[in-house]
Amino acid sequence: MRILAIETSCDETAVTVLECSGTIESPVFRVLGNTLLSQAMKHAEFGGVYPNLAKRLHQKNLIPVLKETLNEAGYLNYELGMTSYDKDDVEKILEREPELLKEFLEYVPAIEIPKIDAVAVTQGPGLEPALWVGVNFAKALAFLWNLPLIPVNHMEGHIASVLVHRCENPKPEIINHKNVELPAVALLISGGHTELVLVKAWGEYELIGQTRDDAVGEAFDKTARILGLPYPGGPHLSVLAESARNPASIPHHSASPRLPRPMLKSGDCDFSFAGLKTAALYLVRELGEIDDIVKAEIAREFEDSVTDVLMSKTTRAMNAYQAPSLIIGGGVIANTHIRRAFENLAREAGWMLYIPSLELTTDNAVMIGAAAYLKHLRGYEDKGTERLHAKGNLRLHHE
Ligand code: KG4
Ligand code: ZN
Repeated sequence: MRILAIETSCDETAVTVLECSGTIESPVFRVLGNTLLSQAMKHAEFGGVYPNLAKRLHQKNLIPVLKETLNEAGYLNYELGMTSYDKDDVEKILEREPELLKEFLEYVPAIEIPKIDAVAVTQGPGLEPALWVGVNFAKALAFLWNLPLIPVNHMEGHIASVLVHRCENPKPEIINHKNVELPAVALLISGGHTELVLVKAWGEYELIGQTRDDAVGEAFDKTARILGLPYPGGPHLSVLAESARNPASIPHHSASPRLPRPMLKSGDCDFSFAGLKTAALYLVRELGEIDDIVKAEIAREFEDSVTDVLMSKTTRAMNAYQAPSLIIGGGVIANTHIRRAFENLAREAGWMLYIPSLELTTDNAVMIGAAAYLKHLRGYEDKGTERLHAKGNLRLHHE
């Protein structure tokens, strides 16, 4: 089946057409079209994602992103446009997104109905104003094209991202399937979340640990800001830390800066990163003027602290639940050092490790389509999309 998936939970506007086949134990995914527009630069002046700006930009970007995805997927027939549809109904669905409505009415009714079997959309968690744009857009498309609508939990999307494996050849990119032996522990680390989830079966999740304050990506971004790095700081901090890992660059004379490993001995699977960021702030203040070498050392020490805590809590969860598989998803696993550390740890511990390819670590619509397919295979039925609501604090749960 072909799923058109939409992701607007934060500051990425993304639409994918995913061809899905295979069973729940062994799903196969092939990306037919995939477009993603990041708003990150637009939010930079606010130093974080600004919900109302995100909402406005999703409205502006969704139709161009849909257009590009459909073109890439080869749905090019514009002459066979639909002749009749109920404009009032579409207007009602998109009444809170006037800018999107205008572009929607200009483009969507004019094209042939693409060969798609379902529409999927991120329902939550995320920024509610941003989520609503995607949800209403998905409702309007499902209505106009008379397709079932599958709401997806964004966190299940991050978990499912490891099932999609992109290879460059042959073209078009074939997505190989990956079988994950369950139960698995999923470590989800992004700008908004830090969670350990037990995946008993697809669709059967249990939250076993979470952050009590800042998410790990948030701590990266805030610490990067303290070090004077541009927004979004996570990737910049990671490059700087990496430079201090090069043995030639480590000065032998100065003592290395030290930061705490928060909650390392708390005896549970929870996290706390707000104190780490504050410790970095005090350290920078205390040191006064710092040169680039010291700055890189602080970045490295911060990254080491985060890595130590993530590895320790994950080991705890893996042992407690005797899971054969470890899944890691979310933007922070783009981090080279954390990736490497977990690869080594998994090798030593004998765990099977599943990490998504780099472009699927951060928010995207491919993972939403993959999670929607798993939900379809579990027998999900669309019983009326009118009632679908965006939920900013949606949790993973048993279905
Ligand atoms: O999953 P994601 O795109 O969005 C959320 O759902 O939050 O994650 C974005 C987060 C940001 O905080 C960003 O700074 C962080 O992931 N990030 C990184 C790296 N690349 C992205 N953090 C550390 N090292 C990186 N290389
Ligand atoms: Zn995310």
